[in-house]
Amino acid sequence: MSDGSAILERPGERPGSPMPLRSDFVWGVSTSAYQIEGAAAEDGRGPSIWDTRCRTAGGVVNGDTGDVACDHYHRYAEDIGLMRGLGVDAYRFSVAWPRVLPRGRGAVNPAGLDFYDRLVDTVLEAGIEPWLCVYHWDLPQALHDLGGWANRDCAGWYADYTALLARRYGDRVKRWITFNEFSVFTLFGYAIPWAAPGITDREQHLRAIHHVNLAHGAGVDVIRVLVPGASIGAVHNRQRVLPEGGRPENEEAAALLDEHWNLTFCDPQLLGHYPPRVAQAIEPYVQPGDMARICRPMDWFGLNHYGPIFAKVDPTRTWGYGWGDAPPDSPTYGVGWPIFPDVFRDELLEITRRYRMPIIITENGCGGSDSPDESGTIDDQHRINYLRIYNAAMHEAIRAGTDVRGYFIWSLLDNFEWGSGYGNRFGIVHVDFQTQKRTPKASARWYADLIKRERFRA
Ligand code: FCB
Repeated sequence: MSDGSAILERPGERPGSPMPLRSDFVWGVSTSAYQIEGAAAEDGRGPSIWDTRCRTAGGVVNGDTGDVACDHYHRYAEDIGLMRGLGVDAYRFSVAWPRVLPRGRGAVNPAGLDFYDRLVDTVLEAGIEPWLCVYHWDLPQALHDLGGWANRDCAGWYADYTALLARRYGDRVKRWITFNEFSVFTLFGYAIPWAAPGITDREQHLRAIHHVNLAHGAGVDVIRVLVPGASIGAVHNRQRVLPEGGRPENEEAAALLDEHWNLTFCDPQLLGHYPPRVAQAIEPYVQPGDMARICRPMDWFGLNHYGPIFAKVDPTRTWGYGWGDAPPDSPTYGVGWPIFPDVFRDELLEITRRYRMPIIITENGCGGSDSPDESGTIDDQHRINYLRIYNAAMHEAIRAGTDVRGYFIWSLLDNFEWGSGYGNRFGIVHVDFQTQKRTPKASARWYADLIKRERFRA
């Protein structure tokens, strides 16, 4: 594996010339409800497990919460104006389950449903295609109180919630995503306590994995029936897992984490079986017919990718593995995440080899602590460099035969970055969280130019 440092010296210069992309290639930006909406207790929204997490000591850096976030609930029209300015084709957003069903099931909240009507209509009026993600981590607290994803009934609650959305928005929304990053919210929610609900229990983790897979399958079926012409994907985070220091004693840790992180959702959903280590452990929770329920025909593979992971043995953790360090000389960006564009290219090729599907890159981007200079400009060259080399790596994968059909930057706005609170800024638009003023960063201009250039070449 190359470490990408040669590339960093000449950002954007990768071997070979870029290929023209498909003429229908989709350029977009991604966000998620809890990270931007705010209005947490407004117009009848119920609490989610993230509202609870933010109020738990040590849950989020600085005790930050999503109560106000980017106030997108009130400022969505301005934000859609920013997207129009970028020239994007598509906007990937998520619906907050507790905004439309405050207790997760039962009585609907008309004001919550109205909000997403306004959002979808304004996005369409701007000439942008809405891509709706049903679940981006904000489970209603009332459902968690009934066991949450560790309860098999949660798959049915999710299917009912999906049906509500499909009936309401399916006339205007044709791009559907069942879940965002299955393995992150199950692993960090139920085994390693870095996310809501912060449980550390093997059995609950295994149950959650299986029930989320069942929910995914049920959601796909519901959308297929209720939304004619729907194009359905699921968003998987795939990050190559490498043993820390290349040391043999970390190899089994890396192999198990690789299953939990990269295979436990993709394989059953797309190939109809669990990877070997998980298959054995999860058997007690699998009922006859489940695999057929989980493995449903999909239209595309959604990939979120940032960089590789290094695993090490850690007996204090639920599964005996923990997060290790990247090699000390690795190139890093903003918040210290390693930059390995070759790994990104190779992930795209591996997905093609293993699942043989079109790919949409649903998230890629770069965090940092960007702040305006005296003139108010935010010159985030570190992000531009990252995006440039990752786009070049995408082109390499396409040249090598991968069918990539779209690319979404994470994220439109600086926002509530889960456990890191507001300290880690991923936006191409800066948000002043005191005044809610939005200021496009240099990377926003760069992205708008890239889109124009690529369209011209297509
Ligand atoms: C992904 C999440 C997204 C955001 C980015 C930085 O794992 O899907 O919500 O937090 O990371």
